Amino acid sequence: MDTLAILVAAGRGERLGASLPKAFVPVRGQTLLRRSAAALAAARSVHALVAVVPEGCVERAREDLAGVPRLLAVVEGGARRQDSVLEGLKQAPDDFAGVVLVHDAARPFVDAAIVDEAAAAAATVGAAIPVVPIADTVKRVVGGRVAQTLDRSELFAAQTPQAVRFELLGRALEEAYRDGVTVTDEAAAVERLGEPVAVVDGHPRNRKITTPEDLAWAERMLQEGA
Ligand code: CTP
Ligand code: MG
Repeated sequence: MDTLAILVAAGRGERLGASLPKAFVPVRGQTLLRRSAAALAAARSVHALVAVVPEGCVERAREDLAGVPRLLAVVEGGARRQDSVLEGLKQAPDDFAGVVLVHDAARPFVDAAIVDEAAAAAATVGAAIPVVPIADTVKRVVGGRVAQTLDRSELFAAQTPQAVRFELLGRALEEAYRDGVTVTDEAAAVERLGEPVAVVDGHPRNRKITTPEDLAWAERMLQEGA
């Protein structure tokens, strides 16, 4: 089945606090955008790649992505992540009926196995996401008091790429838009429709660069020759 990867890079990166949008922050001489695009393009299942970048940054992103294989388009994103994904979806070929992989530009160390496994599972189930177990005990806190200790064996952290069949993803995001609902990931939009989302094994290396501490971790990873 054909697969289209949408690299969402249109966020501002407020928590990172850099002077430029997060996607353009370099780690050891190469931007998060370029690293994550190259990592995606290295996966056998990725047939085409669309990069969704901040307003006014299309030219800069095109230059940054020069030479990345299978780059189909670079477009501007929207206010929320789900709006950026919808902009990316518009670039799909008219007759496209495959799987869409939505990946955070902030996860530069995704490996091809995770990408391919998510794509394959979505082709069968409809949607699939990589997850990792949570190490800490998780509490529900209400009004400054612990209300509940959750069963950790049932809790996982979601990563990307989030893989969803094209038709299902379009329907899920359009319904969320129409209902005025903000979702934090694509799976949540699919779950709202009552459709199943499979899970595949994610990896601690596929961590999202969110804070300056995450960026320091990424620098160390590359220093260690990873
Ligand atoms: N993203 C996007 N469009 C938006 C918001 C986010 O394409 N309107 C992308 C980001 O560029 C990032 C991914 O979604 O690659 C995950 O989002 P996050 O880590 O929250 O990045 P930012 O929104 O940029 O960071 P922050 O929330 O700290 O501002
Ligand atoms: Mg954000």
